[in-house]
Amino acid sequence: MYLKPVIAANWKLNHGPTDARAFLQRFLAQSPKQNDRTVIFFPSALTVTTVMDGLKDRPDLWVGVQNVHSEAQGAFTGENSVLMARDIGARVVLVGHSERRHVFGETDAMTTRKMALISQARLIPMLCVGETLEEREGGHTAAVVERQLTAGLAELDDAQVAAIMLAYEPVWAIGTGRTATPEDASEIHGVLRQALASRVGDKVAAGIPILYGGSVNRGNAAQLLAAPDVDGLLVGGASLDADSWASIVRA
Ligand code: 13P
Repeated sequence: MYLKPVIAANWKLNHGPTDARAFLQRFLAQSPKQNDRTVIFFPSALTVTTVMDGLKDRPDLWVGVQNVHSEAQGAFTGENSVLMARDIGARVVLVGHSERRHVFGETDAMTTRKMALISQARLIPMLCVGETLEEREGGHTAAVVERQLTAGLAELDDAQVAAIMLAYEPVWAIGTGRTATPEDASEIHGVLRQALASRVGDKVAAGIPILYGGSVNRGNAAQLLAAPDVDGLLVGGASLDADSWASIVRA
C-alpha cells in the first residue's frame, strides 16, 4: 500500500536505460528510505526494467508506466498492454495525461476503457485531468475536470474507484514554467474531492490521493504540497535531473 504524499516523476520521452542507470546512482546516493511517502517513477516503457532493477532494494520507490493501450492484447502494433505492465511488475499506470489527450488525440471514451482495464488487472490507474488555458479563461475549469473524472470512473465499481489515484494537471501549467498557485490547486482539488465524494462518500474520497502537476520544481514543491487537498505531486521536467528530483522527493 502506498503512503501519502505520493511524489511521482513522469519522465515522458526522456532517459533511456543508460541515462536511467546514471540517474539512479546519483539519486539513490542522496535519497535514504523515507517511511512517510511513496515515490513513483514513470519511465519510458523501454526503460522500465532498468529502473525496476535499480530500485529492487527500495520498496518505498515504485515504478509505473506512462500509458497502455485501451485493449489488453491483439493486433495493435507499437502499443503496450496492461497485462505486460503487470507482468513486468509495474504498479501504477498513467491515464489521460494531457499529452495523450492533446498530442495523441486520446478521448474520454478511451480513458473510460483504460481505467477499467487497469483496474481489472489490479494495477493502480492514475487518472490525469486538467483544463486548457482557453477553458480556464472561459470559466469552464470545474466542468472540464468533472467531465474527465466522470469518464474515467464510468466503468469502475466503487471498490475500484477507491483504489485509483488522481492528478490535476492544468494544461497551461505543463512545461510552461507557469505553476498554478497553491490556492488554485486547492480549489480544483476540492472540486475533484467533492465529485469523488458524491460517487463513493466522504470517507473513501478523502483517502484517494489527488496529485498536482504542472511546472513543479524544487522551489515550489513544498508550498504546493502543503496546500489543502494536495496529496502529492506529478513532476515532469524537474524530475529529469537527479539532484532536483531528490530535493523534490524530500519536500
Ligand atoms: P512539467 O513538470 O514539465 O510541467 O510536466 C508536468 C507533467 O506533465 C507531469 O505529468
